[in-house]
Amino acid sequence: MYICSLKPNVLNMAKSTSFFYCKNCGNQSATWLGKCPACGSWNSYEEEVVHREDKQKGKSSPQFNKPIPKKINEISLEQTVRISTTYSEFDHVLGGGIVPGSLILLGGEPGIGKSTLLLQTALSLQDFPVLYISGEESDSQLKMRAERISSSINKECYILTETNTQEIFKHIEQLQPKLVIVDSIQTMQSGLIDSASGSISQIKECAAEFQHLCKTGGFPVVLIGHITKDGTIAGPKILEHIVDTVLQFEGDQHYGYRIVRCIKNRFGSTSELGIFEMHSNGLREITNPSEILIASRDENFSGNTIAAIMEGNRPMMIETQALVSSAVYGTPQRSATGFDLRRMNMLLAVLEKRCGFKLGAKDVFLNMAGGFHIEDPAINLSIMASILSSAVDIAVDSKTCFAGEMGLSGEVRPVSRIEQRISEAEKLGFNRIFFSKYNMKGLDPKKIKIKLCPVGKIEEMMRQLFE
Ligand code: TYD
Ligand code: MG
Repeated sequence: MYICSLKPNVLNMAKSTSFFYCKNCGNQSATWLGKCPACGSWNSYEEEVVHREDKQKGKSSPQFNKPIPKKINEISLEQTVRISTTYSEFDHVLGGGIVPGSLILLGGEPGIGKSTLLLQTALSLQDFPVLYISGEESDSQLKMRAERISSSINKECYILTETNTQEIFKHIEQLQPKLVIVDSIQTMQSGLIDSASGSISQIKECAAEFQHLCKTGGFPVVLIGHITKDGTIAGPKILEHIVDTVLQFEGDQHYGYRIVRCIKNRFGSTSELGIFEMHSNGLREITNPSEILIASRDENFSGNTIAAIMEGNRPMMIETQALVSSAVYGTPQRSATGFDLRRMNMLLAVLEKRCGFKLGAKDVFLNMAGGFHIEDPAINLSIMASILSSAVDIAVDSKTCFAGEMGLSGEVRPVSRIEQRISEAEKLGFNRIFFSKYNMKGLDPKKIKIKLCPVGKIEEMMRQLFE
């Protein structure tokens, strides 16, 4: 009797739950924690009260076709014809275009050009139904942007300035678009849970709803996600495992160049990247980056050399510049733009030890063209040559390029895909390339027109360059 009278009270209790989330990585905990056990950050837990309307989590999206078990050999390949974005650079990063039914996350810092890239894509697809959902800009602002960036307007491009996901799904069911763009996931709000938009529980819920939508509807959804430099705003990071493809839009605010890098791709390689340039009328793709990264000049200056690097699967020539001057103050300055400062210090130590340069009392500045940040270790040899050239104040011929990694004992180490680097150098009219002698294996010198300069040690390269 007593037990029965208690039961209804328990069932009628409010369904609000309080969770603590790590702002850094999105880890969930029932209690507040000083240090996140998942990412190790301190004081990053914040409480969020989640009030669930009903138990329909992730099921609020329209049911287009209910999935049923199918034999793998009965699944037609028609469904996997990729949608071309009309930009070869963008298609390239996506592994050949957008896969229908996939969920793509485009992350990047505010103001880098995410909305511009996706609106441009939506407008350049011809007579292709696209729904662009914006929670950030009004329709007239979007129209203004559209006028600025595109001469050809896709007549089937629809704009929706709505943030409630349940409302959005109603429109999608009615409109039946073939591509949905969500700008941005942080502004979306699901009516099923009661917490502020942009909070971790909202971002997770909205992403789960959009995932369900694109898997059942068979059309792709692109989510825009903001990320800040210090990574304090959680969001894109916690979504990485939900989505099929993660693209990162990066670039230096002071330069026009923008790189779309693939971080995760269930339908293609992650080593691809696309290069764009921001103009007053939108983004323009750069199909041959080498040509812009090599400054065209009539005179040779000391300290400037050219490296043959690989960015993803693509060979690229990039100019490295160094300036070595006597330090005015007691502590010499060391500065590197586009290159890791610790790695530069290591290269300077190798130069001191192996080539006898006294760089301890010199200021050294290093700069990569175009504001790019280079990770490929093959750039080391070119940086060494730049520093040497500036230190002795003798210019290196502008038709010479370099590709090699430096070892701590001054040995020039082999690099991957040397044939591709050499053929890119040939194509761009270089007539000499310095690289590791260990890369000679498998190379057929008869097929190569450019002069090959294989070197084993940094001292050998120095002698060949400046004697
Ligand atoms: P935007 O796409 O709004 O960035 P995000 O969506 O990533 O926050 O791009 C904003 C920047 O791009 C802004 O600083 C202005 C610049 N921009 C141009 O230089 N040219 C253009 O044609 C457009 C549309 C923007
Ligand atoms: Mg934007």
